Amino acid sequence: MRPTRRRLGVTALLAVAALCVSTASHAIDWAAVPARNITLFYPAQMSWEVLLVQAQHTGANRFKRDRTCRHCHEGDEAASGRLLMGEKAMEPAPIAGKPGAVGAVVKMAHDAENLYVRVEFAPGAQPDARMDPKFEAKVALMFSGPEIAEIVRGGCYAACHIDSASMPLGGDGGGDAKGDDNKSMYLPASRGMITRTGGDHIRPDDQLAALRAQGKYAEYWQANLNPGASPVVVAGAVLEKRHEYPKPAVSATASLDKGKWVVTFMRKLAAGAGYKDIVPGRVYTVGFSIHAGHTNRRFHYVSLENTFGIDAGLSDIPVVPVD
Ligand code: HEC
Repeated sequence: MRPTRRRLGVTALLAVAALCVSTASHAIDWAAVPARNITLFYPAQMSWEVLLVQAQHTGANRFKRDRTCRHCHEGDEAASGRLLMGEKAMEPAPIAGKPGAVGAVVKMAHDAENLYVRVEFAPGAQPDARMDPKFEAKVALMFSGPEIAEIVRGGCYAACHIDSASMPLGGDGGGDAKGDDNKSMYLPASRGMITRTGGDHIRPDDQLAALRAQGKYAEYWQANLNPGASPVVVAGAVLEKRHEYPKPAVSATASLDKGKWVVTFMRKLAAGAGYKDIVPGRVYTVGFSIHAGHTNRRFHYVSLENTFGIDAGLSDIPVVPVD
């Protein structure tokens, strides 16, 4: 009897210890983590191809030469969102009463094993667009290290193309958001050529495999949200198209209080093949998106490019150590 009881006692103790460890790694004192305020704006149908044509975008030549998007646009995102929401040439299917921009507060932290990303946002008064009946809101991020120059300088816009689903050449004119699923987001490097009408010249499989092996894909995470429900998390990569992984190595928690969502993503710093290792000293560039009011596809808000990193100099979003 005795030895058995003692063994049970030890097991119980170990279980309590394990519980404490896992609770401790989640109990981050977010108030002590530096905040970055970001304004996400409504992008309408302004794509990579449009942005690179001087006659359609004043910043085109300077962007191609040396400037990043943020050089010219930081601080004016809300005005751009309002403009694009009501701009017929760029938005053939406006959603009546939809705000042009949404603010977010982003914080990042890490411990010995994990990266944590906390996004706080209040979507405000959002009309129900009835495009995605399953989820009221979605928050996503997409990032890369210096291996993809277009993301470093243009953030998510590197993946937003004129021939993608629900974009002008996507097959539906942008109206009912039923674009061609084979034309999701993609990166310029996955195409042999990108023309004024997008990139139909997809590289052969062996070249795509080589790009993937060099880590030249963008990683993305998404939390699909409903009030009072656990978030449904999706993770994957974007190269010649969007690849959703069957089992995400990313998890998330979410809460909604007085109209404000707080979503905290977590994944291992080194999460295995198909995920970018998060290592000290390396600078990553990230873009955020928010879908609100039951929208899908391009009917979201997007951020300009932001940098993050662990001990990575003056990144926009420092990833600070927590216990
Ligand atoms: C050299 C400065 C400059 C750079 C770099 C630049 N832009 Fe612009 N952008 C402008 C100006 C000026 C306008 C307004 C006139 C126009 O549309 O041409 C504009 C317009 C826009 C608009 C339409 C909304 C608005 O406020 O007029 C969007 C969206 C936009 N730019 C996004 C981007 C993105 C994304 C990048 C990077 C890929 C970028 N811009 C790079 C100067 C710049």
